[in-house]
Parts: sequence; structure tokens; C-alpha cells
Amino acid sequence: MTETQPVAFPQDRTCPYHPPTGYDSLRAERPLSRITLYDGTQAWMVSGHGAARALLADPRLSTDRTHPRFPAPTARFAAVRNKRAALLGVDDPEHRTQRRMMIPSFTLKRATELRPRIQQVVDERLDAMIAQGPPAELVSAFALPVPSTVICALLGVPYADHDFFEGQSRRLLRGPAAEDVLDAREQLASYFDELIDRKEKQRDPGDGVLDELVHRRLREGEMDREELIALALILLVAGHETTANMISLGTYTLLQHPDRLAELRGDPALLPIAVEELMRMLSIADGLLRMATEDIEVAGTTIRAGEGVVFATSVINRDEDVYADPDTLDWHRPARHHVAFGFGIHQCLGQNLARAELEIALRSLFERLPTLRLAAPAEEIPFKPGDTVQGMLELPVTW
Ligand code: HEM
Repeated sequence: MTETQPVAFPQDRTCPYHPPTGYDSLRAERPLSRITLYDGTQAWMVSGHGAARALLADPRLSTDRTHPRFPAPTARFAAVRNKRAALLGVDDPEHRTQRRMMIPSFTLKRATELRPRIQQVVDERLDAMIAQGPPAELVSAFALPVPSTVICALLGVPYADHDFFEGQSRRLLRGPAAEDVLDAREQLASYFDELIDRKEKQRDPGDGVLDELVHRRLREGEMDREELIALALILLVAGHETTANMISLGTYTLLQHPDRLAELRGDPALLPIAVEELMRMLSIADGLLRMATEDIEVAGTTIRAGEGVVFATSVINRDEDVYADPDTLDWHRPARHHVAFGFGIHQCLGQNLARAELEIALRSLFERLPTLRLAAPAEEIPFKPGDTVQGMLELPVTW
């Protein structure tokens, strides 16, 4: 391959906690290079940390995926690009209005108030795992049900329906064909349509985020039903899949770094910074998408209006001008300025909640199961393909 040939995006990782080796040239060519998407379209890849933060905060980059030139990383993404989106997928001023409505439910204070409830959910899952005895499959026994139960409680979605929405979310994010994605999106939309119906009829509304949206915003005409469905969809899907992946891949990574794990056990005060370092190192949402609406000058290059821009967070978070020895897991570096939760107006709404869940889940898991280890050779444990949020497909463990 010559130097000028664009790199294909996305690519599979060879190790679940390192960027694909196919991105090595992108790491060398910071801050901007050309990439080719699945349909042959070219786009810009941002790989430098400074350029990434400047561009993610730049209002000339849009997340409106209905634009015909918006970059599609997969056929699955292209299949649903014209469906109504909320928050991620809409630009200001619509985005600002939605975000303002949601902020009170996702503040640090709210996440702190939820900690005892999160701890209870984590304890119940660990009790059940321990009662069952080793071995266990950690994704289905722990990593997925913890965030799934928490987001259900927060939103006011019955956890009893979890098999349905977890299955549909899986199809939405990594169904085998574009039709699966479209169908999963429809199924989830009808589910929320019915749930909203039920909530509208309740004389005594619950205290979930959706209850408030139905009984106040929808009733008072501040939003329409389709918008509410789109909001519910992103909150539920983003609220459980991503955190589940961080718990499973975070556990795998810690088990592969026994010295770091021992250090963490010896000094639990390191946990909050360890969570940031794991976020940086794992960069599970590895490809944020935008389209330029005007020409933008970056580092001597012009991104033209209508061109796609992709942010490989795994590469940006290993910019060696910002992180010394970036491929090494280190609890003593300032990892906090990573872009694993994005940056700018679309920066993760659920980050306070996610941090609380990760701290509680990882601390409790290793405290309750001090001899936790992989129950299969590390290199045989399957992980997710590069065109989805990164994480473990399964995590067989024993103790
Ligand atoms: C560790 C787990 C998580 C990771 C790695 C993560 C990652 C991200 C990233 C990278 C973005 C920005 C996407 C972009 O700019 O293109 C984002 C946005 C978002 N996340 Fe998260 N997220 C996590 C957990 C959560 C949770 C628990 C929720 C709860 C509902 C959530 C809800 C959202 C929403 C609604 C947005 C869109 C915000 C907007 O457009 O204003 N996320 N997330």
C-alpha cells in the first residue's frame, strides 16, 4: 500500500483493548488523514487530540445523518439514517432544546443519588452468580443486566421486558443485515409507542424520565410523539449497551494486567482515575461521525463542505503528544481529557451515570470475587467486530 492510499474504516481490532493495527498509519499521520468507508466513499479521519477537540466543538460539523452526504460507516447505519433521531443525530437549536430537557435527569448529583440503587443491583447480580457457583459467563450474568436494570429504573421502562429490548438493541447495533436493523428499529419504536400509551392512561404517573416526558412535555405539546419515541430509543440503547461493553472489556483488560489490578486492590482510592484510564485505553465508541456544513481549515488542510469527518477515539486517545507511553495502562497519568465520551455539545449525556456504574461494578466484582480469572485462554474469547461499539461477546470466568 502506498502512503497516499486511504485506510479502510472501520476495521476489526486484533486485541480487544488496542486500536486495530490497520490504523497504525493514522496514528503516524496526525491529525488528519483520508479513509474509505464500506461503500467506497472517502471521508476524513481525525486522529490528533487537539484537532479532535477543536472539531468536535465546531458548529460547522453536523450530526444530521439524513443529509445524503453524511458518512455511513456500514450498510446497517445507512438503513436507518432517515429515521427520526434525537440528541445525537440532530443539530442546534433542536439539539439544545432536547438536551436542556434531559440534563436534570443526568447530572452528577442525580448519578450520586443513584449510587445506592446501583450498588443494590450490583450486589443482587453478584449474590446470584456466587449462589450459582463458578464458572459463569460474565456478560449475561453481570455486565449486561447491571446497566440494563439501572437504565430501566431511571427511565421508567419495565425490566421484565429486558429480553425483548436487549435482543432488539443487539440487532439494531450489529444485526446481520440492514433489514434486521430497520426491523429492530421498528420493533423498538412500536414498543415505546405502546409504553407511552400505557403511561398516558396512568392516573398516578411513575417517577421515571419517560413518565415526566409523557405527562409534562408530550401533554403540554412541547414535543411530539415521534420525537419522544426517538428520545426513549437513544436513552435506552445508549444507556445499557455501552456501559455493558465497558464492564465486560474493562474486566477482561484488568485480568490481562494483573499488576495494575493488584495496585488498584491495594489502593481503592485510585478507582475513579482508573475508570478514566480504562475509558481512554478501551475507547469503545470508536468512530464518531460528522459532516462539514462549511469549509473548515484544520492544520493546513481544508475540509470541504459536504465532506464526512470520522473521529477514531482509540487513536485520538493515544496521541503521544498528550499521553506519554499511550499504549500502557497507567493509573497515574492525567487521563481525564480523553474523548471516549465525545466532546462538545454531544458529549455523552450519561457519563456521570456510566462512571458511577463502572466504579461500583468493577470495585464490587473484584472485592467479592478476589480470585476471579478467565475460564478460557484469553486469545480464544470472542469480542465484537470493529463496526460496532467495542466489547466482549462473551466473557467466561471462574473464581
Ligand atoms: C461507558 C459507557 C458509555 C460510553 C463509552 C458512551 C459514549 C458516548 C459517546 C462517545 C457519545 C458522543 C457521540 C458523538 O459525539 O458522536 C455519547 C453520547 C450520548 N450518550 Fe453515551 N456513553 C456511555 C454511556 C451512556 C449512558 C449510561 C447513557 C444513558 C442514557 C448514555 C447516553 C448518551 C446520549 C443520550 C448521547 C447523545 C448526547 C447528545 O447528542 O447530546 N451514554 N456517548
